[in-house]
Amino acid sequence: MTGIPGVGKTTVLNELQDLAKQNRVGLTVMNFGTIMNEILRELGKQMNRDEMREQDIETQRKVQELAANEISNRAGQGTIVVDTHMFVKTAVGMWAGIPQNVLQRLSPRLLVLVEADPEQIAGRRRSDTGRKREASLDEEIRFDLEWSRATAAASAVATGAPVKVIRNDAGKQKQAAQELFEVIRKVVGV
Ligand code: AP5
Repeated sequence: MTGIPGVGKTTVLNELQDLAKQNRVGLTVMNFGTIMNEILRELGKQMNRDEMREQDIETQRKVQELAANEISNRAGQGTIVVDTHMFVKTAVGMWAGIPQNVLQRLSPRLLVLVEADPEQIAGRRRSDTGRKREASLDEEIRFDLEWSRATAAASAVATGAPVKVIRNDAGKQKQAAQELFEVIRKVVGV
């Protein structure tokens, strides 16, 4: 499950977990960034999640791979949904959140892109004062949405997994979660 910062993927995932509970479907959400943050802490590097993408790329690459291994090891029974990014904006450029080695480790059966209108994403970023968000020009957000789609297309070719685009329109997070839940049920067969 991917989406650019502020698109509302965590909000939709919270709704999804409620739906899974109500329907007695085993579903666990793992946040890739949280696991990377835990690994960095174990390596003696304490930082907030928004500082991780500012680390040198080799450090991020190493921690990214360790996180993929950790997720794969933690995965038990039931459906695992990984909350992550198609790409991360680093100091040296757009860097894949799910490069080939991570894709192989996670072996996703479904790739999800959460999208919303650029103006709404900009507004959500502005209102989310607890986080250090990216610049919020509509034009940049539009570019990021396109880059996400391009990266998802490449991941779809590499894995053979379908890509589902979920719209998270204003006030429609429950509908977005419902749509996602139905697609997951079809893909996983629960
Ligand atoms: P991550 O934890 O994913 O942070 P993020 O990108 O900022 O995403 P959030 O989860 O905070 O935002 P969101 O889009 O889910 O929006 P939210 O639901 O909060 O990643 C952190 C870091 O981890 C990355 O920067 C990177 O360094 C690292 N990382 C992660 N994956 C990696 C990978 N694979 N490889 C390498 N590094 C990786 O919602 C935002 C606001 O909008 C809220 O206020 C909410 O109330 C509102 N809102 C949401 N939906 C709606 C709606 N439908 N209507 C109205 N308001 C809404």
